[in-house]
Amino acid sequence: TGYNIAIVGATGAVGTRIIKMLEQSSLPIADVKLLASQRSAGKVLKFAGKNLQVQEAVPASFEDVDLAFFSAGGSVSKKLAPEAVKRGAVVIDNTSAFRMDPSVPLVVPEVNEQALTKHQGLIANPNCSTIQMVVALEPLRQEFGLKKVIVTTMQAVSGAGNRAIQELYTQTKAVLNGEEPKAEILPVAGADKHFQIAFNPLAQIDVFEDGGYTHEEWKMIHETKKIMDDEDIQVTATCVRVPVAISHSESVWFELKQDGATVAKLQQLLSEAPGVILRDDPTRQIFPQAVQAAGQKETFVGRVRADGEQKNAFHLYCVADNLLKGAAWNSVQIAESLDRMNLLQIPHN
Ligand code: A2P
Repeated sequence: TGYNIAIVGATGAVGTRIIKMLEQSSLPIADVKLLASQRSAGKVLKFAGKNLQVQEAVPASFEDVDLAFFSAGGSVSKKLAPEAVKRGAVVIDNTSAFRMDPSVPLVVPEVNEQALTKHQGLIANPNCSTIQMVVALEPLRQEFGLKKVIVTTMQAVSGAGNRAIQELYTQTKAVLNGEEPKAEILPVAGADKHFQIAFNPLAQIDVFEDGGYTHEEWKMIHETKKIMDDEDIQVTATCVRVPVAISHSESVWFELKQDGATVAKLQQLLSEAPGVILRDDPTRQIFPQAVQAAGQKETFVGRVRADGEQKNAFHLYCVADNLLKGAAWNSVQIAESLDRMNLLQIPHN
């Protein structure tokens, strides 16, 4: 016995990793359905050694589905997630389509697993940059309270999908060959202008909003408050796309509410925190690195140090695989929580 599972966007950067995470999961699985656009219909992908044909995602795809993972973009989720819920599926959505909807839990299991108890069929997976930051900050917040956060991100191109990874590789080769690199996707597919990402960080992720912030920055600010269930936490962010394929890196400055924190105490809390691996020893040149985090489920934290000028203020540096903890793994982890908390339908025979 087990769940009938659908993966929407199964051919994409996140979808292919959801397949891998489900293969490794203890979740009881009866059947898996791989869904994508019409373009991929008929394509064959493997699940647990079995060949499965990709099908076009349509409303009827969700008949008999208990659990559906969506990572095919916001417009696909807006159209098809309600259809899946209507047919009795629980949806875990990786897009930003429903994240700020008050009736939709926005969940990072290490931080707010309990929010799942209020789900009404739809659960949102937060933005990749937000997830790793709250995993790192939550154990410190639990002990000392969190007043303010200033974060600067260095985000991998895979956050913009498989085509963005290809664009980084193709541009890098072009530059090394002395040719003109072509920019067609980044910083945002469909925007008026595109810029070179090879050897060139871009301080734009997602579209610009009023006030000069990008939508990615807006997400980090508002999703953090929602996940931590505290509108009073002051958060501000600068999000930068860097020429890295996988793993987001973040420089996080934070101010704690209570007195008494020391670097040693914060390191101890981080070393014991769920989902965190502390990599912090300047005497041995140990700090988190993108290439080491890629393929791992945990958030790596290091460079913990005191502000030096301001009381109760510290820095940390965190790195995580944006496609795993930032997306596929966090989603499958949510599914495992739902199963353990008896918040999914009775499994099929
Ligand atoms: P397809 O391969 O058929 O285009 P990425 O994030 O790597 O760009 O992947 C996006 C995922 O979303 C792919 O699996 C893609 O499928 C899927 N997708 C894109 N448009 C649609 C659509 N209209 N309906 C269903 N899936 C879609």
